[in-house]
Amino acid sequence: MANTQRAQFSSRLGFILAAAGSAIGLGNIWGFPTQTASNGGAVFLFIYLLMVFVLAYPLLIAELTIGRYGNANPVRSLSAVSGGQKWIGRLLGLVGLLGATGILSFYTIVAGWLVGYMVSPLLALTGFTDAAAWLESFSETRNLALMLCFMVPTILVVRNGIANGIERWSSRLMPVLFLLFVIMVIYILFQPGAMEGLKMYLIPDMSHLSPGLVVSAMGQAFFSLSLGVCVMMVYGSYLSKTANIPKTAAQVALLDTGIAFIAGLLIMPAMFVAQHNGVAIYSEAGALLSSDTLVFSVLPAMFDTMGTAGIFIGFAFFLLMVIAALTSAISLLEVPVACATEEFRQSREKAVWWIGGLITIASAVIVYNFGDLFGLVVTVTTEYAQPILGLLFALVAGWLWHRNEILKELVQGSPELGETWFWKIWPGYVRVICPILMLLVFGWDWI
Ligand code: PFF
Repeated sequence: MANTQRAQFSSRLGFILAAAGSAIGLGNIWGFPTQTASNGGAVFLFIYLLMVFVLAYPLLIAELTIGRYGNANPVRSLSAVSGGQKWIGRLLGLVGLLGATGILSFYTIVAGWLVGYMVSPLLALTGFTDAAAWLESFSETRNLALMLCFMVPTILVVRNGIANGIERWSSRLMPVLFLLFVIMVIYILFQPGAMEGLKMYLIPDMSHLSPGLVVSAMGQAFFSLSLGVCVMMVYGSYLSKTANIPKTAAQVALLDTGIAFIAGLLIMPAMFVAQHNGVAIYSEAGALLSSDTLVFSVLPAMFDTMGTAGIFIGFAFFLLMVIAALTSAISLLEVPVACATEEFRQSREKAVWWIGGLITIASAVIVYNFGDLFGLVVTVTTEYAQPILGLLFALVAGWLWHRNEILKELVQGSPELGETWFWKIWPGYVRVICPILMLLVFGWDWI
């Protein structure tokens, strides 16, 4: 397994920022608030938190550990931990890789909208009102153009590799994003209508609890923590052998969940403030209108209420969100690129262009068949593929990989681990409890 030439993150903080950079993205600002708003608010929030804690976090540790042990692309890492059944690992790696490309193909479309909403107020300010209006109205050409505006930088960053590309882009973003969120939350909570949103977000109404809600919350937890599609495995493979995996994973999960929680604290009240100001959010029957684009009508409506300052705050916010989406998109593109460079011995430069090109074509197909494909690809990849694959990775680690080998890998970064309660609980937990919990969730939904 010795492959000393392999790139590594240059520091532990660099890794945490990059992994948190992958985790924090559209899932936090678009997926989570939209799902919370359409699933009755607080109940969704609490089930989501539970899913992060009981399922996503333990499986994040599994993915990082497999990746670091393999010190290679996911296809190879998974086969290295599959004992005598190497083909199972290879197959899972390939399916995960397809999942990552599937997610990226819809992710770039939504991230493109962020780019549009970032530039549009500036265009309006400088007199290009038609162009500004075009950017804010839904059309195939706009979606295609914006998707390309996002895809090209993604390809360029991945072309530059780990330390120069991914790590550098992920640093320094988090504190600024966090600060801006806090300022906006304080602002919105003082607007008329905000309290109604806050109540919906924090006070559970159990009548909304349903099997479908639990499946969605589970998918959202896996989506937000970038699980099940080999991303964390690839990042784990660039992680130094001295890092403490359970602790690092906890930091990443906390950062990601914290940002999602704050995004909800902003968007839920902002929805009701927007409604108070005449923006239609819920239909007469109480269903969410145009859920895919919800945050894109709520946020600009909020910035409008801020006067001229709103233009600059809005710009800064969307810029930071574009960068957050970029650090997630590059992690998704890194999966197939890492496989192609190592398995086919291709240069990074070459692999990144042809793989990026293929994903761009897939995105274009979704753009031109939006009604039929967009929701379908989102549901299949995030609600089903991510949790199921995440679980299968953990089953491989739990049942095919030798327990002593896992411990040997884990204690490298924390020698005392073998004595802790973590080690007493975790292996059995991912082997037995996680599969049972997940079967219960899906089973409850199916019956
Ligand atoms: N976690 C990212 C987000 O919340 O936006 C999206 C994502 C990135 C999902 C990487 C899956 C993945 F492998």
